[in-house]
Amino acid sequence: MKKILITGGAGFIGSHVVRRFVQQYPDYQIYNLDKLNYAGNLQNLSDIEQNPNYHFIMGDICNMALVQNLFNKHALDSVIHLAAESHVDRSISHPIDFVQTNVLGTVNLLNVAKEAWGKMPSDNRFYHVSTDEVYGPLGVNGLFTETTAYDPKSPYSASKASSDHFVRAFHNTYNLPIVISNCSNNYGPNHFPEKLIPLAINNIKNKQPIPIYGKGENIRDWLYVIDHARAIDTIFHQGINGETYNIGGFNEWKNIDLIHLLCRIMDEAMKRPSGSSAELITFVNDRSGHDYRYAIDATKLVNELGWQPSIKIEEGLKKTVTWYLENEQWLRHVTSGEYQAYYQTHYNKNI
Ligand code: NAD
Ligand code: TYD
Repeated sequence: MKKILITGGAGFIGSHVVRRFVQQYPDYQIYNLDKLNYAGNLQNLSDIEQNPNYHFIMGDICNMALVQNLFNKHALDSVIHLAAESHVDRSISHPIDFVQTNVLGTVNLLNVAKEAWGKMPSDNRFYHVSTDEVYGPLGVNGLFTETTAYDPKSPYSASKASSDHFVRAFHNTYNLPIVISNCSNNYGPNHFPEKLIPLAINNIKNKQPIPIYGKGENIRDWLYVIDHARAIDTIFHQGINGETYNIGGFNEWKNIDLIHLLCRIMDEAMKRPSGSSAELITFVNDRSGHDYRYAIDATKLVNELGWQPSIKIEEGLKKTVTWYLENEQWLRHVTSGEYQAYYQTHYNKNI
């Protein structure tokens, strides 16, 4: 039996991780700590919120007294840390928020875990969930491995890189039992519609322009979110103390090609004439400092721990589109309020 603190469990990836652990491991107690920022949504977990092994705590990972109290009260033995500010464009307009949560919040969790576990018998694990963006942009060739030098270029990736360094420093200095994973771009249900794929789905649905930065030539490596949650489960249980694992889909796409594929799937799903979604594609000003290409070599995870991506892109996009079309109320809920204000400010500058 384990008592796991999952941070950021009400967000996109976190909600899939929480669901997986609550359902797969009924003898574990899962404590979801989330401050519910614009991307945190308890509706993401409505199907499992009554499970006796699931507990939600609304709060900030930066709050030292709150985190200490959770460790003391529940004798937590593990952390899976996903809470973060996660959107590159927001990091360009509000970099301090990213330092606050991604750097200071992570160090606060590490420090409290170190204090609590120093006094407890072992079998502890601090699992830090990170991103491939810490490695910086690639040119046309090459892949990121676990030994690629860090070269973050955006305030988001710089804050995640900093947090990764602190996690390793706590392992090196205090022997804190840690693992880190760096994953490529995720897509799937419950993704907040500020990121490329859910934004495009929402805009196509509403017959609004699909904003493509620059010429759409940038390349990302896409992984279905359920495959990421499976990888986190595998690494949490089998990963070696102190190690890093890259997670990716072996699935690189130019943005413009990916959006054309999505447009075809949306035309079919919405029973609209072929080509009508693609007419909404609108090229807009490029993101400043836009990283050209990310691509992960996940061989270590595949060879050492036996994980494989299971969902191919076309199947994953179809599942994602179906989910968004069947969950209109979720979409309406998250696109009201703060998001509307962000969208107006961000895209009115661009379109
Ligand atoms: P998200 O923005 O959808 O969710 C983040 C969650 O963290 C939200 O529920 C939010 O309320 C919560 N949160 C934010 N600040 C907090 C704070 N100070 N205290 C407590 N809770 C807080 O993000 P996501 O896409 O689900 O990403 C989750 C993690 O995975 C992040 O660490 C991100 O860097 C990493 N990651 C994401 C991707 C991706 O493609 N989305 C890829 C690789 C790694
Ligand atoms: P995004 O989903 O923001 O993820 P990240 O920047 O973390 O990779 O963006 C994915 C790609 O899509 C990236 O190259 C930027 C581009 N993009 C657009 O072209 N238009 C958009 O409106 C957004 C949000 C992103």
